[in-house]
Amino acid sequence: MSTTKAEKSIEQAPIGVFDSGFGGLTILRDIRRVLPQYDYLFIGDNARAPYGTRSRELVYEFTLQAVKKLFAQGCHLVILACNTASAEALRTIQQQDLPTLAPERRVLGVVRPTVEKVGELTRTGHIGVFGTPGTIASRSYNIEIEVTPGFKVHGHACPMWVPLVENRESSGDGADYFVKKDINQLMAECPDIDTVILGCTHYPLLIEKIHKYMPEGVKVIEQGPIVAESLADYLQRHPEIERHCSRGGSCRYYTTEDPDHFSPLASVFVNEPVNATRIIL
Ligand code: DGL
Repeated sequence: MSTTKAEKSIEQAPIGVFDSGFGGLTILRDIRRVLPQYDYLFIGDNARAPYGTRSRELVYEFTLQAVKKLFAQGCHLVILACNTASAEALRTIQQQDLPTLAPERRVLGVVRPTVEKVGELTRTGHIGVFGTPGTIASRSYNIEIEVTPGFKVHGHACPMWVPLVENRESSGDGADYFVKKDINQLMAECPDIDTVILGCTHYPLLIEKIHKYMPEGVKVIEQGPIVAESLADYLQRHPEIERHCSRGGSCRYYTTEDPDHFSPLASVFVNEPVNATRIIL
């Protein structure tokens, strides 16, 4: 049988972006600013957020379900726009699942690109990391950053920050209380901290409060611009992946919760109308 033109053409699909909820939109926003030419497909597992207080097994199970769903939609490249999933599930997915599931596809996270940037910013070598209980307990940032002599990571879990965002309380008085308390606790642990990583993609949605209470002179690292630049670099170095990424400038949004709950707030975060569709993972 002769090969048809369609069979010869390269399969192309959107880049998949996944988070437990709204937080991944902070990463998606910056990725689309730097790489507007590609198509994107976002999944927020809002129905099961937060992930950060769940067991490692469940975070892995939920993340793998999302990756499989994005693969089923054709995505060749998936970004875990979630520190908890990157810290607790990415390595197992890359090393154990991908080789049998889809050896030619890729799943990337947000911890590695952030770690690579931190050395350019700190002067004292004392780096604070705010994250979910899961991310902080995994010690992923400690393990990756402290290989550099003289660098010390001070991790601090903020279990209330994600619920504040998911429940649309990020500009309320409750947010002031918890953001101030957690910043004060971190800085009391080590006053030499000069750089703080927001190691959860939900946290930029609290950025006004974070700047309000962070001591002057302490740099706050948001991951969106870092992950976006790192992805642009990755696509340039990996043409075998890049050629599978479709170029239409579009973005489709899926949520495991009610789209009427997701879409209005998501529209505010990404600064464009969002009409999400419900998806079951
Ligand atoms: N936004 C995610 C992160 O970066 C997960 C937050 C959560 O669901 O607890 O860690």
